[in-house]
Amino acid sequence: VLLLKTIPELRSQISFYRAKELRNIGLVPTMGALHQGHQSLIKKAIADCDLVVVSIFVNPLQFSPTEDLADYPRQLEQDLQLCEKLGVAIAFAPDPQTMNSDGDTQTLTEITRVIPPQTMTEVLCGRYREGHFTGVATIVTKLLNIIEPDRAYFGQKDAQQLAIIRRLVDDLNIPVEIVPCPIIRESSGLALSSRNQYLTEEETEQAANIYRSLQQAKTAFGRGEINSQTLINLVKQELKLAEKVKIQYVELVDPINLQALGQIEKSGLLAIAAYLGSTRLIDNIVLQKR
Ligand code: PAJ
Repeated sequence: VLLLKTIPELRSQISFYRAKELRNIGLVPTMGALHQGHQSLIKKAIADCDLVVVSIFVNPLQFSPTEDLADYPRQLEQDLQLCEKLGVAIAFAPDPQTMNSDGDTQTLTEITRVIPPQTMTEVLCGRYREGHFTGVATIVTKLLNIIEPDRAYFGQKDAQQLAIIRRLVDDLNIPVEIVPCPIIRESSGLALSSRNQYLTEEETEQAANIYRSLQQAKTAFGRGEINSQTLINLVKQELKLAEKVKIQYVELVDPINLQALGQIEKSGLLAIAAYLGSTRLIDNIVLQKR
């Protein structure tokens, strides 16, 4: 794997590959601390594309002042080894200064921003993480413009992010195919996350109840329950049994435009955010009528 840290180097490598007929370029954007969830995106990209770029950038724009930017796990050496093992051609790991045209701050605060529609950010995580999705949309737009991939891979784990990015490339006519990838879980059902490493043993055990509660709702849905409030209450009741799980929200929305649903007509995104101690976890399932 070739580690590149600057935009001119990256651009010149990519045009070199394109000239060699390696035309089908895949991008997997990440913030590093790569785990099996990221790995599944990378593997899919490698199976689909001639050339895969993994970006590793802990994006300061998507962290609020009270969030864990400074403490966010950073392990570039390990991440590069994994990329090497998987057959990634290029790892793009810019410094914050590189991603900021002004060049002299770490925080990118003076950057031009891409602001997603309010209807998509006033729900789910957006309600609790002001400016987060503007930060994500801005950095993803930059990465798409720098690399010009044919395909970009995103996990369903971050369902709101995925929906917002699909809308973004549509709205701004960015010529890239967004490829959604399924959620990778521990055998307990706990969705893999870089933040799982902050959990104590007891919290890890209780965190498995998040997925269990989603499964309960899925079972009810399978039996014909389509009323949102009923399904949401079922999840909340189930989660009450796990005393360490502090629910931030349970919502049922349209998977494409993220608008709240009274009942499920075709499909619904049932999403949870919860705290275990000071660690915030998210998970979701899509309930789909057949
Ligand atoms: P990060 O949290 O590193 O995640 C990178 C990608 O991996 C995202 O598309 C995310 O949905 C996916 N992912 C994480 N855990 C997963 C799991 N258990 N199963 C499947 N996919 C999983 O998301 C970001 O970084 C950033 O917001 C980014 C898009 C890179 C912009 O800064």
